Amino acid sequence: MLYPAAMDGKQHNETDPFTHAIVRPPGATFSDGITSADLGRPDLALARVQHQGYVGALERCGLQVTVLDPDDRYPDATFVEDTAVMTREWAVVTRPGALPRRGETAAVGDELARRFPALFAMEPPGTLDGGDVMAAGARYFIGLSGRTNADGAAQLTRFLGDRGCSAVTIALKSLLHLKTGVSWLGGDTLLVAAELADCEAFAGFRKIVVDPAEAYAANCIRVNDHVILPGGHSHTKSALEAAGYPVIPVDVSEFRKMDGGVSCLSLRF
Ligand code: GLY
Repeated sequence: MLYPAAMDGKQHNETDPFTHAIVRPPGATFSDGITSADLGRPDLALARVQHQGYVGALERCGLQVTVLDPDDRYPDATFVEDTAVMTREWAVVTRPGALPRRGETAAVGDELARRFPALFAMEPPGTLDGGDVMAAGARYFIGLSGRTNADGAAQLTRFLGDRGCSAVTIALKSLLHLKTGVSWLGGDTLLVAAELADCEAFAGFRKIVVDPAEAYAANCIRVNDHVILPGGHSHTKSALEAAGYPVIPVDVSEFRKMDGGVSCLSLRF
């Protein structure tokens, strides 16, 4: 479905800093969400405090943050990244792969429709989670995962191709999402977990490989002049700082319990 009309646009690149983010605080049912982490139930009060800290980190990076209302019908709705793929010029509302998450897109779609003259929405049988889509400028990498299927990847690939962007798919083995294991740091540099370090699709990139003991830190976000990194990962923090990236650590322990990382908690554009 395309409404109201397709638009051409340019992709975010390093000369287009992020200026905005959309987030959604955890709702009362947060601990009922999907998880394989086996780290115990999250503390909702602490999760809300950590979410505020995360918003503060985005603001420190210069972003204006729009906070959507929580929706207790959707325990995973705080992981707003999965509901859209977007740049400052265009947005695609996804069709999340997990059935209980599919309704999360309505509120995000409404917010995006206010901002974008055209909004593309993925159609069945395609499924795609935004966490499976990593942009490196005009190059896109799409993870084929338990959430993102070949049809969803193909729909996004066509959409990107119409806008002058390339896309390649990467079949994931054990990762929940592609960005669980890799983050673009700008230019030709990736922060990558061991599982993806030798991935053919990333040949030609300079890679900072995450210590396996800190694999969770492979999911970080480069936001303008900083990298927002999950706290408590000192080796990764040191490696990033040694490579010249100022790091803002954020405590996201309660989101980790629900299989979420720092990228999952926002849409940035
Ligand atoms: N709990 C986040 C997800 O499974 O998508």
